[in-house]
Amino acid sequence: MKVLGINALFHDPAAALVVDGVTVAAAEEERFSRRKHGKRPVPFAAWELPELAARWCLDAAGLDVSDLDAVAYSYDPQLARAADEMGLSDPWDHLRQTYARRAPGFLATALPGLDPAVVRFVPHHVAHAASAGLASPYADGADVLVLDGRGECASHLAGRYEGGVLDVLRTQELPHSLGLLYEDITEHLGFLRSSDEFKVMALASYGRPRFLDELRRAVRTTDDGGFRTDPVDWGSLVKPRRADEEWTADHADLAASVQHRLEEVLLELAGWLHGRTGGRVLTLAGGVALNCVANTRILRDGPYDEVWVQPAAGDAGTALGGALHVARAGGDVTAAMPGADLGRGWSDEELEAWLTTARVPFERPADVAEEVAACLAANGVVAWFQGRSEYGPRALGHRSLLAHPGHEKNLERLNDVKGREQFRPVAPMVLADRARELFGRGPLPSPYMLFVHDVAPQWRDRISAVVHVDGTARVQTVDDADEPLVARMLRSFERRTGLPVVVNTSLNTAGRPMVDDPRDALECFGSAPVDLLAIGPFVVRRPGGAG
Ligand SMILES: [Fe+2]
Repeated sequence: MKVLGINALFHDPAAALVVDGVTVAAAEEERFSRRKHGKRPVPFAAWELPELAARWCLDAAGLDVSDLDAVAYSYDPQLARAADEMGLSDPWDHLRQTYARRAPGFLATALPGLDPAVVRFVPHHVAHAASAGLASPYADGADVLVLDGRGECASHLAGRYEGGVLDVLRTQELPHSLGLLYEDITEHLGFLRSSDEFKVMALASYGRPRFLDELRRAVRTTDDGGFRTDPVDWGSLVKPRRADEEWTADHADLAASVQHRLEEVLLELAGWLHGRTGGRVLTLAGGVALNCVANTRILRDGPYDEVWVQPAAGDAGTALGGALHVARAGGDVTAAMPGADLGRGWSDEELEAWLTTARVPFERPADVAEEVAACLAANGVVAWFQGRSEYGPRALGHRSLLAHPGHEKNLERLNDVKGREQFRPVAPMVLADRARELFGRGPLPSPYMLFVHDVAPQWRDRISAVVHVDGTARVQTVDDADEPLVARMLRSFERRTGLPVVVNTSLNTAGRPMVDDPRDALECFGSAPVDLLAIGPFVVRRPGGAG
């Protein structure tokens, strides 16, 4: 079967293509439209579709719209109820439901030639679940936990995949929602709701959970695998922060309290699920699963031997999950996703043509990995554009900004390049065979950067730029077989410096989506203080730059 997956209704519109059970392409609309998150998640924008991403998926596979056997839309309006019936204050939600019901018609307009009858509505949390269970290497036997802000009428699903078939054991109905709770606190702390939740997680490391008792009263699990989230009067705990205000210890303490309670509740939900199934592996998806601190606690303190997290755990991932679910339901055997590099890529000839058109001086060194390692060793900042772009919010060595981890000032330097708050950490990529020595505690390998690790004390000063205030780092491990070019660059850097680690953060500037195509890369390089652009086998040097 040829199945196009579409996520459109709430956050992070995206498309994915599954052909005969194999994931061949997946991409977020923001990478094409250059609008962060694709759109704001408001009812008025719910009709908008990931048109550019969808067309690209088809082009990349050489398919015509008429070749599609099905389009999986990751929301089923038949399951929804009126917002006030669900206890939500969302007076325009009925627009969302109307747009969802009309999605087949909108899709046929956006993709001329599409038969609206091939559109299948996939329940939102089933699509999330498939993005974890079916996309993981454990589809034949894995538990699955989905937690997000909301789907049709729930915010959670707990179940088990056996032989690729999902058995749903529990869902939690709205208005109770850990995702919406976290969105509330994000807004209260002066950050952008449905976008900046990870900033709360970073801020939490600076605080003490001194409001934990209040949070424990408001947020609690029930004996039957569900939970309650009562409304919290955040202002009575700490006054709200305006976006342009400095954060204080009070804000950090509130963030720490919410984060801590979230972790406790997730551990209890995972414990309940394990009690029902006795499973060995837990797979996770939903926006809450992008909380790498919580993921780490689930693994460290929970009952599972392994935890696998979908790298596009937010709603973008439901495009892939929806497509995999429909393919399975149609009789295909689905394969695990091959990696997160499912987006656009260019041949060497195409990249050379872009550089020639831009009339920038470029070279083709004998080995771009050596060239980059030399620049990094000389404390240069490198824009690294290689292979296909990543699906999901993390740069994993394809659209990355790289730097030397041994200079503490590089954290500030990169946050300045990217226009980010200085409390936010940058992450290390490390050779997989050296990771245990540097980051002993925590799940290894960790190819998708979805867990945090304690940095071994003897290494903290040596890689100070990537050590967060609490002594942890959000590690990406790099395997020679999976990522040969990145691994070669890391080995070359280690030969030059003794450090098997480089700083890796996403290649973008303030408020913009990650770089996706060569033009974005040239624009980013042209406007940011980056010393070297490594694009395919070519390098472009900043005049007077390091290295
Ligand atoms: Fe979701």
